[in-house]
Order: sequence, then structure tokens, then C-alpha cells
Amino acid sequence: MAEEKKKRDGFGSKLGIIAAAAGSAIGLGNIYRFPCEVGNNGGAAFLLVYLVVVLFLGIPVMLSELVIGRRTQSNSVGAFKKLAPKSAWPIVGYMGVLCGFLIFAFYSTVSGWTLEYIVKSVSNSFQGKDLATIEQEFTAFHDMGWRNVMWQGIFIFLTGFVVFKGVQNGIEKYAKILMPLLLVILIVLGVRSMTLPGAKEGLAFLFKPDFSKITGKVLISALGQGFFSLSLGMGVLITYGSYVKKSDNLTSTAFSVVLADTAIALLAGLVIFPAAFSFGVKPEAGMGLVFNTLPMLFNQMAGGYWFCLIFFVLLAIAALTSTISLLEVLVAYLSEELHMKRQWATVVACAGTMLLGAFASLSLMSNTPFTIGGRSMFDLMDFVSSNILLPVGGVLIVIFVGWKLGKQKFFDEVTNENIIKAKLKKIIFFIVKYLAPVAIAIVFISGLIK
Ligand code: TRP
Repeated sequence: MAEEKKKRDGFGSKLGIIAAAAGSAIGLGNIYRFPCEVGNNGGAAFLLVYLVVVLFLGIPVMLSELVIGRRTQSNSVGAFKKLAPKSAWPIVGYMGVLCGFLIFAFYSTVSGWTLEYIVKSVSNSFQGKDLATIEQEFTAFHDMGWRNVMWQGIFIFLTGFVVFKGVQNGIEKYAKILMPLLLVILIVLGVRSMTLPGAKEGLAFLFKPDFSKITGKVLISALGQGFFSLSLGMGVLITYGSYVKKSDNLTSTAFSVVLADTAIALLAGLVIFPAAFSFGVKPEAGMGLVFNTLPMLFNQMAGGYWFCLIFFVLLAIAALTSTISLLEVLVAYLSEELHMKRQWATVVACAGTMLLGAFASLSLMSNTPFTIGGRSMFDLMDFVSSNILLPVGGVLIVIFVGWKLGKQKFFDEVTNENIIKAKLKKIIFFIVKYLAPVAIAIVFISGLIK
């Protein structure tokens, strides 16, 4: 056991699981993807479905992953091999590795933008500009495809460096201080945003549901966003769970992470929508919704220069703790299953991501050749991974825990072998075994039918 731990170092056993899991969960998914999805799916109605997804599916799926990981002390593929040898279950793990690769590829594109925006903030390049100019510059930036690829490469390199050096522990320590700071900044921005003229319309968009807007597409987008934002369905939390101490309380970890992640997403909504409506940015504006609204908002603030700079630095760090978790899944798989040296595994995973990721970045140029069926490769990677692979992975994980691992082992794990109570364990197991698989399947199928 002691040896096992040493071999699986990198994180060491002192890792605060909440900090790590929250670090993985909180990222661009909250600040950038969540508002985009809310905007594209009719606002409040989407938000409502999202909250139901996060609470009733997010917590059980998260707990299931943590249970699998801690029980097996393995990466996402090895975990299934240990618990269900000579079966098809390891496919779930392989799917997760593939999905991690896809997500890292397009996620690093947007992560790279945070670096560009840090540079822009330092040089005060938004000051005094109107919306049309800011929008133009955002498009012009996309059209500089290779500049995007460069930032993306730098970001992947940074992620690789952290994982290579095995200093996640250190990063998580900073994240513990910096993520609450992100929360504070979001609150300040939210207050400014909500006091802009015309902000009310944005609040109504976010909170007054029009139930006729709940379609199959809205359901599946909410499901996908829930899984994406909480880093579920691809084995991040199996891998992280494997680094967790036997004495940690898994249930309360899951609750804390879901709470923190949802709070940050909601706050991001409160920052973006009132301001967007006030400035005349359309809710369906996609990427521009966040990246154009924010500079406009900073322009309206006393000390906007500093808020802008600090915000994008924090956003880059939030993205980094997420990309670390994605890379960690790939590296844990390559090193433990394919017996590569950890360092080599990191290099291989980063190089592969860079290659695929370049297509994602270059597919956002106006005259890009990288589209498939009219959709940019960026969109396609996002759609396939978030709305298909994650929910499918999630459903298989809960089915595995509910029907194959079984109640007793699940209870053993959440109670730390009867040392803690875990009051909600019965309800949660019921959801894991029956409700979650059915609910995910229904949402998923209704989304595919159209
Ligand atoms: N959850 C992160 C975010 O919201 C992104 C992320 C990191 C992720 N690891 C993941 C998404 C694993 C899905 C699966 O920004």
C-alpha cells in the first residue's frame, strides 16, 4: 500500500480533494460556456433544467466516480479492469480517455484566449472603445488563426509543465485562495452589471422561465452542460478519487464541489446577462456574449483596468486547474496502463492534444477550411464530447455502480467502512441505481430525436 502510494505520487496523498475536484470543475465551463448555453437555449427555462440536472444527477454521478476511484486506486481504465475483469466495462474508461483528449483539444483554444486577454488588459487595449469596435477586434483575433494556436500551445505547455513536474499540489494550494477571490470579483462585477441601465431585462431573461422553450435540445444541452461543468462522465473524478485518502468524506466532498461550481456559474450569469442586455449584445451571440460583454463592463467601472487584468488572470488560473485534470486522466492512463514513464506520457498527451487542438483553433477563422457539415471542428468536438460522450459515460458509470459494484460496496466506500454516517446514502444509491440511468437515457434520447 505504502509502495503503491509512492508509485502513484504526483499528487501525493496530502491533496485536498475538495480543492482539486473544485479546481477541475470550476473553469471556463462556468464563466464562458454556461452563459453561452443559457443564451442559446432560451434563458431561464434552461437554467431551471440545469439546476435540476446538477442537483439530482450531478451529485450521484460525482459520488459514483469518486467511489470507483478510491476503491480501486486506479486510473479510469484500470479501475474498471480491477472491478470487472474480463468484461467490456473498461470501454467506459477508454471512452473517457478519448473524451478527455477531445475536450482538452478545444478547451485549450479558449484557455489560450485568456492569455491573449491578459496581454490586452495589461496594455489597456479596451479602454474607451465601443461595442462595435470590441466585436470587430474579437473577430479579427479569431482570424489570426496562428496567433490562437500559439496561445493554445503555450497553455498546453503550461499544463504539461505542471503535470510533468508533479506540482499539482502546489497549484491546488494557490487555487484554494484564488478561486474564492474569483468569487469575490464576480460578486463585484455582478453588482456593477445589475445596476446598469436596462439590466432588468437581462435578469428577466435569466430568471423568468418560459416553459414552452423546454425542448429536447434544451434538455440535452442542460445535461451536457451539467456534466461538463462538474467534470463528470469521463473519469476525472475516478482518477482524482484514486488519490483520495481513505478517511475523506466523499459525500460531503461531492456536495461542496457541486455547490461551489453552481454558485460560480450562477454568478457568471448575473454578471453577463444584465450587462449584455444593457449594451445590446445578443444572448445568442455565442462566444462574443462573454468575450465582448466583459470588456464593455470593465469600461463602465471605476478601476476597470485592474478589475479587467485581475479577472483574466484568475480566469486563466481557473482554466489551468481544469486542464490539469484533463491531462491527468490521459497521463494516468498512458503511464499506468501502457507503462510509459510519467514524463513521456505527459509529452505524448500534450503533443497529441496540440495537434488536434490546432484544428479546433483554426476552425474559428471566418474563411476556415476546417468545418464538417457546416459546423466548425471546434463546435463539433465540443458537441460530441459534451453532449454525447459525457452523458453516455455518466449513464454507464451509474449503471456500473448501481448494478455491478452494488449497494454494499457503495455504502462501505461512502461511510469509510462504517466510520462515518453518510445519512443520504440510501437515497443517493436509489438515484444511482434507478433514477439517474432512466433520467439520463430519456433526456439523451429526447435530445437526439428532435
Ligand atoms: N469542468 C471544467 C469547466 O467547467 C472543464 C473540465 C475539466 C471538464 N475536466 C473535465 C469537463 C472533464 C468535462 C470532463 O471548465
